[in-house]
Amino acid sequence: MHFALRPQLHGHDTFAAFAEAHGLGARDLIFTQRILHETFMQDSAAQVLFYDDFCDGEPTDVAVDAMLTEIRKLDFDRLVAIGGGSILDSAKVLALDSDADVAGLFEAGVQPGRKVGLILAPTTCGTGCEVTCVSVFDFPAIGSKIGKAFDAGFADHAVLVDEFLSKIPYPVFATSSADALVHAMEIYLAPKASPYTDMFCMAAIKSILQGYMRIVEHGRAVIQQDARAYLIASNMAGIALANVLAGGVHAIAMHFGSAHHVPHGEATRLFLPPVFKIYYRKAPEGKISEIAQVITEVLDLPQDGTNPFDALDALLAKVVPTKRLRDYGMAEGDVGPYAAKVIETQQRLLVNNYVPLSDTDIAGVYTDLM
Ligand SMILES: [Fe+2]
Repeated sequence: MHFALRPQLHGHDTFAAFAEAHGLGARDLIFTQRILHETFMQDSAAQVLFYDDFCDGEPTDVAVDAMLTEIRKLDFDRLVAIGGGSILDSAKVLALDSDADVAGLFEAGVQPGRKVGLILAPTTCGTGCEVTCVSVFDFPAIGSKIGKAFDAGFADHAVLVDEFLSKIPYPVFATSSADALVHAMEIYLAPKASPYTDMFCMAAIKSILQGYMRIVEHGRAVIQQDARAYLIASNMAGIALANVLAGGVHAIAMHFGSAHHVPHGEATRLFLPPVFKIYYRKAPEGKISEIAQVITEVLDLPQDGTNPFDALDALLAKVVPTKRLRDYGMAEGDVGPYAAKVIETQQRLLVNNYVPLSDTDIAGVYTDLM
């Protein structure tokens, strides 16, 4: 067993409080989106580089290569990345001490050190990537998203700022928090889970499900009251993710997200219910029974044999609605080739499954959602 807690964690109410506590100034480079800078950081003396000058969606290898070219011209001491998973994942690579491009950096065994200080502050409540060292980029030429863990990708400081959630669009909140739920549920069941990851995962699962029930009961406005709870829950799931990789839901989502340009959180949320229903059908007495129990308690399900994962599916349909796979452009004939591609490209994640998923199981997941 191995468990590490790496970046120092900080929480602030506002960007101003964060900037003062960390002494942000002219020797810092803020890497963020233009709209976030205009909304929260107008008064900052720090240099700034905008993600949206390179990329308008999730990062591709081509876009990050352009970022690397630009950032290597700049002179600064700390990279302060403020944004969603795309921005934070890019920043981990931008802070490395290397002249290589993304293809070179993603080669096996390549582990550069860090060139500058690194502070990561999430503006969504999902990926938890402020506390992981993994960067996930889309490689369109290969047709899949690929993640790599960089030893130097861990930030010096991860900073949770409540204010950053104050303007979050509902769909971004919904899919990012659902991704945090997927992290916690997948890692809780992973063969390499430990009592430490269990603790963080279970706390995150309970907190997010309780938040979702509050949304159903009180409406979407309640999210602002719960901002700190969501930030902490996704951070806790991220701490687990920094120690144990996610599994089959992410494996299927990685390929689907790349093939149909679906944001990461939306893709993982899509595949969570059918994968967990397979797990629960195959091995209901194992550790998944503990997740089933928590769902039963938080969702206040009757003890009448209701399948907790059917109930979770129904809750997600209300809080994080999605489309059918055909509406994303997937065809019936894609089912077999997609399942084969997942097995071919995502073994890094598939080995973390609760129980093995066969190509037939994976094909069934797609069919379930068509
Ligand atoms: Fe994820």
